[in-house]
Amino acid sequence: MRDADVRGVWSPNAEHAEEAAALARSLRVGDAKAFNSIEEMIADPSIDCIWLCGPNHMRIENMEAIVHAVTTGKGQLVGIACEKPLARNVGEAKRVVELVEKSGLLHGYLENQLYTPAIQRGRALIWARGAALTGRPYLARAAEEHSGPHMPWFWQGELQGGGVLNDMMCHSVEVARYLLTEPGKPRASIRPVAVSAQIASLKWSRPEYVERLKQMMGSAVDYAHKPSEDFARATVNYVDEQGHPIIVEATTSWSFVGAGLRLSQELLGPEYSLSINTLDSGLKLFFSREVKGAAGEDLVEKQNAEQGLMPVVANEESDYGYEGENRYFVSCFLEGKQPEESFYDGLEVSELLMAAYMSAEQGRVINFRPKELDSFVPARSRMSDPLSAFDLILTGMNVLQKFELGKQLLIFGDGKQYSGAPALLGDNEWPSSPSDLLNERSRVCSKLRNGLYVLV
Ligand SMILES: NC(=O)c1ccc[n+]([C@@H]2O[C@H](COP(=O)([O-])OP(=O)(O)OC[C@H]3O[C@@H](n4cnc5c(N)ncnc54)[C@H](O)[C@@H]3O)[C@@H](O)[C@H]2O)c1
Repeated sequence: MRDADVRGVWSPNAEHAEEAAALARSLRVGDAKAFNSIEEMIADPSIDCIWLCGPNHMRIENMEAIVHAVTTGKGQLVGIACEKPLARNVGEAKRVVELVEKSGLLHGYLENQLYTPAIQRGRALIWARGAALTGRPYLARAAEEHSGPHMPWFWQGELQGGGVLNDMMCHSVEVARYLLTEPGKPRASIRPVAVSAQIASLKWSRPEYVERLKQMMGSAVDYAHKPSEDFARATVNYVDEQGHPIIVEATTSWSFVGAGLRLSQELLGPEYSLSINTLDSGLKLFFSREVKGAAGEDLVEKQNAEQGLMPVVANEESDYGYEGENRYFVSCFLEGKQPEESFYDGLEVSELLMAAYMSAEQGRVINFRPKELDSFVPARSRMSDPLSAFDLILTGMNVLQKFELGKQLLIFGDGKQYSGAPALLGDNEWPSSPSDLLNERSRVCSKLRNGLYVLV
């Protein structure tokens, strides 16, 4: 990427960090090395900014480590950019915002869809021509649909924060809001007033797909007993500065089977409209039934077929907005300028998503902003019994095997990335009650990362 080098990678899984650093070197986008900890990475003077790309349930832990390192003088940073969603719910998103404010760092919320060439150019033209002459747009539709995520933690409500609504509607509500906001005006120039939504598990809780999902993702992903929604739709009612109504319609799905990932957006105004569908790609290939190649993802992300007439997204990094997004945040950080799309936007997105869950769960329209939002956690994201909560903690940590022996739970960590013999968690190091187990999650997890433990 122009103006930036990838100089370091940290992951609790050292192999992943090594792989990502090697990839950066092989692509010649930076002389990257794998670090052993966030603190060590921040202490390196060649690191100016951090892109936070870990799983959703680690956001706060990652942010706390970064902010602690910066505020205790372990090193200096300019900015931090965080992947979507900013956190699993509003309470957590507020904590992330509080932490970044404490650090004094510049901050960017990585919402790639805002930076796709089609959205950037379409939005500029619509506002400069259609809206300037005939009035502002009043309706935006956005959808992101595919056949399901690639890693188990996305499917587990407790870890991810919910189902497809939390995972993908964050994109759709934000890109639709962006299309409806006049270029140069602040986010507050349109104001959400009501949210209504529906969620459903349409495909993955059917018995045959419950089994298929377990085979693909492991037994902890159990959609017979703990399903998350694989379909969501929401309507967000806004008003503009004159009090005129504006509407966002968002739809997201993990139960869509087409050629592959489909991103679509529409923007409608009094005398004009815009429409985008990433599967209407300029490049299409046809493979006859004699072409019996292996399944892959070489034509389009989340590809579902290799034969027939297939669309190809020729430059996914650019067409889905990642190039534009990263260049924008890099240039802001270089200039010492606070990016327009910030953690505050990530928090507002989380507020809209939680209001949508509230609406879907309660079967009513939610007037925005409800005061219960700060403590609201979607039903599918609440930890239930301690053992399953424990299960989930482990799923996030590369644990290879675990056995239940009467009252004993033996846990084998992968051990690979750590030197030294497996250790036991001492008697007094275990939380004393199930609720402490949840509350002391990060302390227990960091101990557990080191090898073999026995819970009696
Ligand atoms: N903008 C987009 O279109 C988009 C697409 C995919 C994912 N995402 C977001 O990016 C994040 C990562 O998703 P992914 O698909 O790469 O997931 P992934 O599971 O494929 O990769 C996550 C990586 O994080 C590492 N990791 C594990 N624990 C960690 C911790 N405590 N701290 C830091 N890293 C840790 C893992 O080793 C792994 O390499 C998620 O928040 C997801 O929502 C955004």
